[in-house]
Amino acid sequence: MTKFLITCDPGLEDIAEMEIKENFPNAKVSKFFNFQGKLLVEIDGNYEKFFTLHSIHHIIKLKKEFYLEKPTIEEIKKALEKIDIEEMENAETFRVTSQRYGNHEFTSIDMQKIGGEVFLEKYKKKVSLKNFDLNIRFDLIGNFGYVGIQLTKDSLYKRFKKVFHHTAAIKSTLAYGMIRLANIKDGESFLDPMCGSGTIALEAASLYKNRIKIFAGDINEDYVEKARENARVNGLEEFIEFKPMDATKLEEYFTSIDKIVTNPPYGVKIAKRKDLKGFYWKFLESVSKVLSKEGRAVIINLRADMFRNIILRLKTFKIVHERVVESGGIFPHIFVLERIQ
Ligand SMILES: C[S@@+](CC[C@H](N)C(=O)[O-])C[C@H]1O[C@@H](n2cnc3c(N)ncnc32)[C@H](O)[C@@H]1O
Repeated sequence: MTKFLITCDPGLEDIAEMEIKENFPNAKVSKFFNFQGKLLVEIDGNYEKFFTLHSIHHIIKLKKEFYLEKPTIEEIKKALEKIDIEEMENAETFRVTSQRYGNHEFTSIDMQKIGGEVFLEKYKKKVSLKNFDLNIRFDLIGNFGYVGIQLTKDSLYKRFKKVFHHTAAIKSTLAYGMIRLANIKDGESFLDPMCGSGTIALEAASLYKNRIKIFAGDINEDYVEKARENARVNGLEEFIEFKPMDATKLEEYFTSIDKIVTNPPYGVKIAKRKDLKGFYWKFLESVSKVLSKEGRAVIINLRADMFRNIILRLKTFKIVHERVVESGGIFPHIFVLERIQ
């Protein structure tokens, strides 16, 4: 068995575990009790398939795990000195990347520095933070140290080529998680009416191709064209029908949609709270006009209390699931809505 530390979106560990087990049926997956965004995965044989998964960020092939009663920089140094990294023999350059979770009297930069010093002394190879042959990953999770080789250079959430980057784009892994929560079946219709750069539609198209009918739009016509271009450079244009649309008037474009998965603006630019409330209200009212009887809407929103309040007052939807995720230091909620029959 080979052991990996896999990173994913905090709050979507169950989705990552599900995808890992679908692809590696014999995998042993364990979550961390107190810490999110990480999984320990043991698999037999070839691990190349990890690179094709939609729910994970980084893949770290573990070399050594250790436990420190009281983690200090001195104790860490002693633990790292005992670790052999055979891959260093063939590398010309290396770097150390560290993350730290829990309460410690040092930072992850201190960990990176001490790791760099220890392995430089041991293997006499050049340190290069940008053009490295080997990325030694050393994380401390509470009292547990994990040292391994990070196999991913860029996070896998950057899997789509993007000629246009939206300032408020979500990670493709988060889009994947939302799509899984939508519980899509072949033949269904799917819509992201506030698509921005198209992340959610691209993710849906890469998963379902033409097994479902995918629509995407945005009030900003320029974004619609740019999202189409993003789909084109990823070879996904033929699977998505793009058109400009107002998400508060969906009934003008559609009679029935089975799954709506979207990421509305969080209100950073809409100055007044009242305007944002009005916008969410009109959007949800419009969703209620087009969502099919058995349909689902999966919506990510930072203004969770406001959004929940509107859903409850509107009395058209029930919240069948709600969870908090972490994304770039903020904590939006994913709401899964179904019609009250
Ligand atoms: C948070 S961004 C979506 C980002 C997208 N998920 C991505 O990954 O690029 C919200 C989008 O909603 C669009 N929008 C705002 N009001 C809208 C409306 N009434 N109808 C449709 N789109 C709207 C904005 O133009 C913006 O692109």
